[in-house]
Amino acid sequence: MTSRRRFMKIVGSSALIVAGGAGGFALTRTPDKAIAPWARAGSADYADPRIKALSYAILAPNPHNRQPWQVDLSETNVATLYCDLDRLLPETDPFERQILIGLGCFLDMLRMAAAQDRRNIDITPFPDGTPDLHLDTRAIARVQFGAPGSAAPDPLFAHVLKRRSLKEPYDTSRSVAVRDLQAIADVVPATVSVNFETDPIFRDELRDLTWRAHLVEMETDRTAMESVHLMRIGKAEINANPDGIDIGGTAFLDTLALTGVLSRESIADRNGAGYKQGLEMYDAIINSAMAHLWLHTKGNSRIDQLNAGAAWLRVNLKATDLGLGIHPLSQSLQEYVEMEPLYAEVHEKLLEEPGGRIQMLGRLGYGPTVGPGPRWSVETRIL
Ligand SMILES: Cc1cc2nc3c(=O)[nH]c(=O)nc-3n(C[C@H](O)[C@H](O)[C@H](O)COP(=O)(O)O)c2cc1C
Repeated sequence: MTSRRRFMKIVGSSALIVAGGAGGFALTRTPDKAIAPWARAGSADYADPRIKALSYAILAPNPHNRQPWQVDLSETNVATLYCDLDRLLPETDPFERQILIGLGCFLDMLRMAAAQDRRNIDITPFPDGTPDLHLDTRAIARVQFGAPGSAAPDPLFAHVLKRRSLKEPYDTSRSVAVRDLQAIADVVPATVSVNFETDPIFRDELRDLTWRAHLVEMETDRTAMESVHLMRIGKAEINANPDGIDIGGTAFLDTLALTGVLSRESIADRNGAGYKQGLEMYDAIINSAMAHLWLHTKGNSRIDQLNAGAAWLRVNLKATDLGLGIHPLSQSLQEYVEMEPLYAEVHEKLLEEPGGRIQMLGRLGYGPTVGPGPRWSVETRIL
């Protein structure tokens, strides 16, 4: 798991000795229940083709792994998608732009999974009207499932189970080929624009900008605490709440959690050693970006945001196909007052024409293989 490796570096060697005594305990610390939905996706047990497709859709990338999806299956051959309004990120995503991008990823994953089953789906976004400033209880999309034989598989589907948001440091000795970035850009639908950059000077400027944006989030109490409250520390917490930011799954980390060395409090304390080491670690992550890619739209409508989600899923899957890691760095794109200067800077730097909206910005490079992230089972997301 991504955060597991990071915290290996955060905490010191004395803690390592404590964990060393854990022995074979290690083998039992994987949060099996939390990652089970990856193994169950597409299972023949799902007789209803909608649930079978949904069992893949729940594996979609989404901000802070909030999994804000809820689905109503009461209408025959239809899945109606709602946003779970208890799963928003009010501090870092005050207008639910990123939440909606995550729901866009979900819908495109649903489309691909249904197509794998040879079924077309017809997606009607916002069938009861489009929300304006805030999402509400109205449906995000009505999805009509077609008959068998109505669609052909999407080649990107082959990478669904291997796809990750790869949050590890990347290999700084391996550059990313422009032809690979172009192959990734080529999978982006025409509704969304895509650009990438590998030039070392530009890349260093973007590393610096994304780092400064990370600092703003960390140094603003309410945005930093939003993440801290979403941390699931250790196997028991991850299995009980398979969402948010998972830290654990090894004897080492679970022992630190049990002994109180690793806790929400120790992570939140800005004067503490853990916080400082966390920053150093994130510095290494951001500064190992070997290329950046961003998605943008002319406007910032709710449909633009859904489209950006579909595009990001495709980008993520194509990167997986090419063996490349990709990691969204969303901080500078967020709409709160402390971020305004960096929001302006990133838009001025990355967009040729004023008025457009960057929907996703990610770093790319070659990184280690990591396991899948936690998910709530499909059954728990059906209303
Ligand atoms: C709109 C959006 C914004 C995201 N922003 C970030 C981010 O700023 N930093 C980060 O580490 N991950 C970000 N992610 C990745 C999510 O954390 C990730 O998708 C989620 O934890 C599930 O993990 P997985 O993609 O590996 O399955 C973002 C994902 C989406 C869809």
